[in-house]
Amino acid sequence: MEQIRRIGVLTGGGDCPGLNAVIRAVVKTAINDYGWEVIGIEDGFEGLILPDKTRELHINDVRGILPQGGTILGTTNRANPFAYVTRKKDGRIVTRDVSGEVVQRIHELHLDALIVIGGDGSLKIGYEFYQKGVPIVGIPKTIDNDISCTDVTFGFDTALDTATQAIDKLHTTAESHHRIMIVEVMGRDAGWLALEAGLAGGADVILIPEIPFDLYKVDEKIERRDREGRRFSIIVVAEGTRPAGGEQVYQSSKDPTAPRRLGGIGQWAAGELSKMCDHEIRVTVLGHVQRGGSPSSFDRILGTRFGSAAARLVAEGRFGEMVSLRGECIGAVSLADAVSQLKTVPLDSDLIRTALSLGICLG
Ligand code: F6P
Repeated sequence: MEQIRRIGVLTGGGDCPGLNAVIRAVVKTAINDYGWEVIGIEDGFEGLILPDKTRELHINDVRGILPQGGTILGTTNRANPFAYVTRKKDGRIVTRDVSGEVVQRIHELHLDALIVIGGDGSLKIGYEFYQKGVPIVGIPKTIDNDISCTDVTFGFDTALDTATQAIDKLHTTAESHHRIMIVEVMGRDAGWLALEAGLAGGADVILIPEIPFDLYKVDEKIERRDREGRRFSIIVVAEGTRPAGGEQVYQSSKDPTAPRRLGGIGQWAAGELSKMCDHEIRVTVLGHVQRGGSPSSFDRILGTRFGSAAARLVAEGRFGEMVSLRGECIGAVSLADAVSQLKTVPLDSDLIRTALSLGICLG
């Protein structure tokens, strides 16, 4: 195995609380335990495509960042080197494979390994580079908690807390006004955030992508609550949920280079539900608030353990692997397995069984 002297680290895809904790742990472990140089790459893989977007990270650069949300390296969910989209001066949009140039750049930077901190998209890109011979180690991040082969990703716990607090606040105003409050939360095609925030916030209805919903069942639940004297209801809906036989709802965008973004199912459900019942209905879309803020202590610790463990994997030459949490233990899994499929909520999971036992309507 070649001796490691210099490693790169980047954060890709949507940000989440805990990224700085990971960067800090990577830098400290790399320098304290192994004496390596660490090169921070700015704005995800874009930092390896465009010039002047790398800088050496010293211990001083990561002091004080543990409680900070976001990422000191910057990120983007647009720069896939295998399908890099640019807009020409004449307005034409061109998609190119610039992965060969990125590999060349990694050599020019003398990086002996690259740590990719990312969600599903960035880890898949990392895996493709690994297949091209780049020594990659992955670290799973996302508020969606949808990465396979790890019990949880960092960022999820903080986002869950943010969503739960929002539901708590909506509860009191819903009750005062006898309204139906629909809360749309993120999570893409996985219902973890909606289901757990709904459980933690005492929602009456939770709609998740894994269970296409029937609004008549939701209306039945609202009416049942009315008869019991509970004249308000809280409905938590995941952005990726769809009605049975219907489609997911996407935001419209005038930018043809932008990735498609889920959003709007809450408003759609409100419109349909208002045809069935007399309640006033209000919709709150939590949006990017869920990605912000200082990481919870759980995410700080998980991020720190992941960052340190990733540096150890580099030292052991275990490329093509991703750090993961199983129970109390930090381990490693193959990147190939981790990116092979999204981790969605199993229909036979204890979370679902518990929600049903509590009388929560799942649509
Ligand atoms: O994957 C994280 C996430 O926040 C999803 O929950 C959401 O669908 C998406 O990113 C939003 O992306 P953007 O920041 O591009 O709007």
